[in-house]
Amino acid sequence: MSIKPLIILPDPILRQVSKPVERVDSDLRKLAVDMLETMYDAPGIGLAAIQVGEPRRLLVIDLAKEGEEPAPHVFINPEILESSDQRSVYEEGCLSIPDYYAEVERPAAVRVKYLDRDGKLQEMQAEGLMATCLQHEIDHLNGVLFIDHISKLKRDMVVRKFKKLAKDKAPGKMVG
Ligand code: NI
Repeated sequence: MSIKPLIILPDPILRQVSKPVERVDSDLRKLAVDMLETMYDAPGIGLAAIQVGEPRRLLVIDLAKEGEEPAPHVFINPEILESSDQRSVYEEGCLSIPDYYAEVERPAAVRVKYLDRDGKLQEMQAEGLMATCLQHEIDHLNGVLFIDHISKLKRDMVVRKFKKLAKDKAPGKMVG
């Protein structure tokens, strides 16, 4: 098991569309375990493989609260089959956009099909936080970030801030 470095905005990797997983094998399961460990360490409640630089359609979610037993979920090649007309608003954040939160409106419930870690086809009817989290993570697989769902004004501000942070952190800068 190992904790992987997280890809942070504005890294263009985050805009890549991830490729379907062709084989659920031990390599893929190892990546899922590493992703869970990376997510718990952050800490976060969801993580897509692209956020650790792997453009594969794989994501992990654990909504267990502090003090509760871990409840890890692994979703491989997840697809939204149905979205509710009813919508809900959550304050979202993202491990690739640290310390920034904004309210996002999405369908309140979704039905998702995916392969589990044994490669078995599963379906889940999700609502509440699970529905929001699944949509946020599936967006990542399509190169979409939660800031794409907020106003352009706010998004431009966030992107500018992270571009500046990245520049300030760039190597080769001598500060005496
Ligand atoms: Ni995210």
